[in-house]
Amino acid sequence: MKNLKCFAGDIDPLKLDRTPFGLNHKLADHPALAIENLAKVISDFPKEKILHSKELNNLSKNFDTEMDSTNHEVNLVEVIENIRTSKSYIAIKNPELHPSFKDLYKDLTEDISNLLQAHGTGTKPLEPKLWVFIASPGAITPFHFDRTSNIIMQIRGSKELAVFPPRVDEIISQRDTEGYVDWSTELPPWREELDLFAHKFNFKKGEAIHIPFVSGHYVKNGTDDISISLSFFFHSDETLRWSNAMKFNNRIRRFGVSPNPVGIKQGLDKIKAKAFPLVHRMMSLMRGLK
Ligand SMILES: [Fe+2]
Repeated sequence: MKNLKCFAGDIDPLKLDRTPFGLNHKLADHPALAIENLAKVISDFPKEKILHSKELNNLSKNFDTEMDSTNHEVNLVEVIENIRTSKSYIAIKNPELHPSFKDLYKDLTEDISNLLQAHGTGTKPLEPKLWVFIASPGAITPFHFDRTSNIIMQIRGSKELAVFPPRVDEIISQRDTEGYVDWSTELPPWREELDLFAHKFNFKKGEAIHIPFVSGHYVKNGTDDISISLSFFFHSDETLRWSNAMKFNNRIRRFGVSPNPVGIKQGLDKIKAKAFPLVHRMMSLMRGLK
């Protein structure tokens, strides 16, 4: 693995999207991620890019509507102060669109490109995007999975991050995984006995964790400080193929078919992924004819 700009440590690219693993990053003191700059990003960004929740697990409220709009910076200080005690979240979507994140985003994209090339699953990340999460001490993110691959970096504070192996039927069934990837079903409720499968990371400033595509995970923030973390979400050629093949499986299930799981036979996944847009169009057309 050649020298990376943002990551360090013993990195085995062959583990990508197979198993969660820890690595180190060099971004903890990057000026774009300083709280003063994050305040500026929040004040510069359109309101739909900022999510704020006073609830433990609810990111659906809009940050701007929670605040007096006359002075974002003063209000952000209040929000950050409240975040120490309110068990809430602020999420900044697509900070890469802000000029202050331009170089950071470029460097991360280059590093992920190198990882994908070493893994043999692409030349560059597909559909790449960043999110910044600012969360209260003790706040919990419930068990769920992301619909892309993810490398999450801890910038400030600490958390326990439990990550589960991907595509294991006992953890999340094939049917539930495919339905959730296709945005058509919710995940089933969390069961305590699943904790046996977890890789638990004590996640600190300067550390990063790879969360594979469709790997379940939950987060318990440390109680000592607020938490700031940065996620780089992306697809490889392989995970985009898996994603479309899973959506294909989900759609054909409605016709009484029990499809083979994705990720076993690459040739079959390729055919399903290619066929998905056609199936999607046909089903949309059929809905229109009803
Ligand atoms: Fe997540």
